Amino acid sequence: MSAIVLIGLPGAGKTTVGRQLARRLQLPFVDSDQVIEDRLGCTIRAFFEREGEPAFRDLEEAVIDELTRGPACVLSTGGGAVLRPANRRHLRERGRVFYLRAAPEDLFRRLRHDRTRPLLQVADPLRRLRELYAARDPLYRETAHHVVETGRPSVTLLVHRMLAQL
Ligand code: S3P
Repeated sequence: MSAIVLIGLPGAGKTTVGRQLARRLQLPFVDSDQVIEDRLGCTIRAFFEREGEPAFRDLEEAVIDELTRGPACVLSTGGGAVLRPANRRHLRERGRVFYLRAAPEDLFRRLRHDRTRPLLQVADPLRRLRELYAARDPLYRETAHHVVETGRPSVTLLVHRMLAQL
């Protein structure tokens, strides 16, 4: 089995769902943002501020290429991973991709006290989430093999539904 990949906007639940899915499948859980932070020795937010977004996207592309060639795992990706065509191709061709979809309003409710996401450190984060959703929803759909509606169901129920699709 290759990678089981989770994509979606920040706050969609990629890490929480991914950890539980990995436990159920007895696979390692890998978070591409965590791998990047471990290698950088600093937070993504700090790196973004110092080096800018394109430098982060270059690193992210290299890490995703590497992780999707590696041993089977459940791979959670950063919300912007689908921005690069090479990532969309690698994720879709090398993995089974689940898009965790959530409405911008739900994401805003989950993230309103979060200070770790560089793209949301703006005056109007809900507006930013709506813009990100409009720009990225088509890219998530293009990359995914399955769309999972997050929203009301518990994490356990979402994982149960995902397992049924494997
Ligand atoms: C980003 C999302 C973040 C992280 C970086 C950029 C984005 O990951 O990769 O801050 O462009 O949406 P999460 O989706 O885990 O927050």
